[in-house]
Amino acid sequence: MIKVDAINNMNEIDRLKYMNLLVKGQLSSEKDHLANISNVTAIIKACIDRINWCGFYLLKHNELILGPFQGLPACNRIQIGKGVCGKSVELKEPIIVDNVLTFDGHIACDENSRSEIVLPIIVEENIYGVLDIDSPFFNRFNDMHLKYLRELVSIMNQYINWDALVK
Ligand code: SME
Repeated sequence: MIKVDAINNMNEIDRLKYMNLLVKGQLSSEKDHLANISNVTAIIKACIDRINWCGFYLLKHNELILGPFQGLPACNRIQIGKGVCGKSVELKEPIIVDNVLTFDGHIACDENSRSEIVLPIIVEENIYGVLDIDSPFFNRFNDMHLKYLRELVSIMNQYINWDALVK
């Protein structure tokens, strides 16, 4: 059982650090990759407030396909270069969008989304997909989120066999 109550009295930076501790705990105690990724989305949702969607898109045969997530039903497939997620894959770089309404080509899965952070999942120069987090508030994400979410992805890369998941 993952206990998230401890975050209630924490400031944001401590929540982000705790998020990564919980992720490490989950991934080091369970071997099933789908169970692990599913719980990672739940840990993110519990630890980062003011978000309306978080989840993974996996790059299968050159298109992003929806993976485990928390939030409203989302688009199943995103082409490379399309939307913030597809752009992050194309650039192989994380992207923070302060205002999705002004991002050319943004794909609005949840019309309440106002800002977004996307990180590519890259292991030894191979790209396996993205972690996507949306907020109903403008300017929700900054370099602090980027730092701890990069750490989260790197913890995942130590434990998750992405090759097996994108076949
Ligand atoms: N907003 C994303 C699409 C995915 S949903 O937000 C879940 C994008 O433009 O890539």
